[in-house]
Amino acid sequence: MSSDAPAISTAPIRRLTLDDLQGCFLLATDRDWPVEEKKWHLLFEIGSVYGIDDPDGGLAGMVVCTPYGRELSAIGMMVVAKRHERRGLGGRLMRHAMEQSGTATTWLTATAFGQPLYEKLGFRIISQITTYLSEAHLLPQGDLVSRQATQADLPAILELDRAAFGAPRAELLTRLLARAEAFRVIDSAGGITGFGASWQTTEFACLSPVVAEDMDAALGLLSDLARVTPCRVRIDADHRFPRLHAWAEAHGLQKGFQNAVMIHGEPLPGDRARVFTPTMMALG
Ligand SMILES: CC(C)(COP(=O)(O)OP(=O)(O)OC[C@H]1O[C@@H](n2cnc3c(N)ncnc32)[C@H](O)[C@@H]1OP(=O)(O)O)[C@@H](O)C(=O)NCCC(=O)NCCS
Repeated sequence: MSSDAPAISTAPIRRLTLDDLQGCFLLATDRDWPVEEKKWHLLFEIGSVYGIDDPDGGLAGMVVCTPYGRELSAIGMMVVAKRHERRGLGGRLMRHAMEQSGTATTWLTATAFGQPLYEKLGFRIISQITTYLSEAHLLPQGDLVSRQATQADLPAILELDRAAFGAPRAELLTRLLARAEAFRVIDSAGGITGFGASWQTTEFACLSPVVAEDMDAALGLLSDLARVTPCRVRIDADHRFPRLHAWAEAHGLQKGFQNAVMIHGEPLPGDRARVFTPTMMALG
């Protein structure tokens, strides 16, 4: 350990702003994570980004916490520079983010690097998520089951999401409706019963979130989203839903990495049988 170890171990945590964006990119690159500018802008808009300055310049560590009301927050983008690892920075950043959000439940997905640290902090594994990536634009067969959403659909989308996700995501969904590559809804006699977005941050568009009344409706939304999204796609498939994996494999998507889904505190709110894919790993 170098002589600056004590200094960095107690260096203050501060709330980062968009002025720190380049520092966040450099830190992500230090751990071979991709630079996702569009995603980071969204994270700074709806989440709280915390970091620790490296006395030698740049950032030594960062984490993003996005609270949804008092019920639930999602933690993501937890990175400590290789040169400063195992000095307690990760643990301090996590504890700080959780104290600041103060929600009943905290949700995250963990890499093999992060999982032992989160377990020490009291997180427990509730599932796994496997990421699937397509090698080309997909053209699923069959009729479209959904239509593109409009601004007029927003209240119904938010009401449905509030019941299924169990915590308010108005800020996030309002932005996704305005900016996503596609945002589709399923109509029924009683109103909107499902919705899904396609959101491009790298060369891949994430088909997420997908909220639907059952698996058939969710797969219909995924097919529609994949068809109208003119690029390669990514699906983060929770192991609670084996048919999502079967759909991905049947459409030739390749398995990427696997993360553990972990929570801290109360069980997840809402009706999770209707939440098929998370918005993104960092956002829940
Ligand atoms: C996961 C990650 C954020 C952890 O950061 P970190 O700053 O090394 O975490 P901490 O130092 O708080 O804790 C890690 C370990 O160091 C130990 N440690 C803490 N302070 C220490 C000190 N002063 N001296 C020695 N070890 C120490 C902790 O007990 C913990 O031990 P463990 O490995 O047996 O669990 C970091 O490894 C990382 O950025 N990895 C790559 C990106 C990634 O996978 N991020 C997680 C996404 S979910």
